[in-house]
Amino acid sequence: MDLPFTEPFKIKMVENIYRSTKEQRVRWIKDAYFNLFNLRSEQVFIDLLTDSGTGAMSDKQWSEIMLGDESYAGASSYYKLKDAIKDITGFDFFLPTHQGRAAENVLFSVLVKEGDVVPGNSHFDTTKGHIEFRKATAVDCTIDAASDTTIWHPFKGNVDIEKLENVLKITSPGKISFIIVTVTNNTAGGQPVSMSNLREVRKLSTKYGVKLIIDSARFAENAYFIKMREEGYADKDIRDIAREMFSYADCMTMSSKKDAIVNMGGFIGFREEELFRKASTYNIIYEGFITYGGMSGRDMNALAQGLYEGTEFLYLESRIKQVSGLGTTMKKYGIPVLEPFGGHAVFIDAKKFLPQIPKEEFPAQTLALEIYTEGGVRGVEIGALMSDRDPITRQNRYPEIETVRLAIPRRVYTDNHMNYVAATVGSVLENRDRIKRGVKIGWEAPIMRHFTVRLERF
Ligand code: F0G
Repeated sequence: MDLPFTEPFKIKMVENIYRSTKEQRVRWIKDAYFNLFNLRSEQVFIDLLTDSGTGAMSDKQWSEIMLGDESYAGASSYYKLKDAIKDITGFDFFLPTHQGRAAENVLFSVLVKEGDVVPGNSHFDTTKGHIEFRKATAVDCTIDAASDTTIWHPFKGNVDIEKLENVLKITSPGKISFIIVTVTNNTAGGQPVSMSNLREVRKLSTKYGVKLIIDSARFAENAYFIKMREEGYADKDIRDIAREMFSYADCMTMSSKKDAIVNMGGFIGFREEELFRKASTYNIIYEGFITYGGMSGRDMNALAQGLYEGTEFLYLESRIKQVSGLGTTMKKYGIPVLEPFGGHAVFIDAKKFLPQIPKEEFPAQTLALEIYTEGGVRGVEIGALMSDRDPITRQNRYPEIETVRLAIPRRVYTDNHMNYVAATVGSVLENRDRIKRGVKIGWEAPIMRHFTVRLERF
């Protein structure tokens, strides 16, 4: 008999969470202007807002915290991290930053100019924000299958090679900042990118003489999917797969808050010394000296350890199976979920869940609010609110998929919690006919509005 998979760790410390009443939550969410980002964490029972920076560090990581070297320059913690990055990714040069978007800011300060074009696969919102802020354009070249929530495709995060080549062909030379491939593809549902797709993208980047950058926030989960789904990789080690993925890139940006299981941190990896030197100046201005750039020594130590723990097969298997387990239970309740399940989150198809809510009334946000009110479970809208307005026409952008993302923090919740989450959403589904109207915008920021938007309910 095959024994069931299980977490390769046990729990040493617990944090109590407060289970509020529905009446309390109705009041709290109104006071929060119907924006889940405005809630206090004590007002949330199960927090699935993000898997970013919300993971539980291990005893070894906490031990590394005690060993941190807080020297301004040349700290041993910096060299420990440098060695770990070289070992796991193969990049010779790196700059620490305080998180992923800071890595984008520093690198894009060198590479992105006004009027540039940056093709990629569903750029994450801060990535797009850093591109558009510099008056450049992010062009999404994700495969069409990604916008159908029911098609089973093993690598739904892939770049459409034809779309990419068209962009490269029609854009005048020198106007492409770089190609950016996000692994896994968060915005398209935490969907992986295959090794053969990365190889194809590399071929085009070489042919057109443009750099290839990997946005690596969830690179280990991507490597797990390659091992499980791509021919020729079943017997390969996760770390070998990760190194091969990175071998196709010129640079990487990393939000260490995801797959490296730390609460804060990021970095940029470079192959070329010249680009590293150029970026170093911006790192010093924006982040800190090049041997700590936005991170304390203890945090660099915990990150070095986390890079190893996050790339262990048994850990990845228990993590990804917890996510797919939630998806499977939700499906049993009849909840329309995006398939295949992503690596870090289950995405609910809000258009199918609430067909009575028109897109102008933000169905995914409406659903996220209902789920919170029902059971104190906080997810996040990945839809029209997050997509912002078109920077030129200022019209709302309505992406094809409108979802609520339930992102699972790493090593934090048990499967009982997951069952509670599924039941909460199931209960909203049972009573969905009672939901007649959605929300409208009361106030919004000009860019990345979903974080601070104030909404009103009809
Ligand atoms: N790239 C991807 C693919 C991301 O998912 C994120 C963050 C970033 C870059 C930026 O990294 O937060 O460290 O500055 N994603 C989080 C999320 C916030 O909830 O998906 P950061």
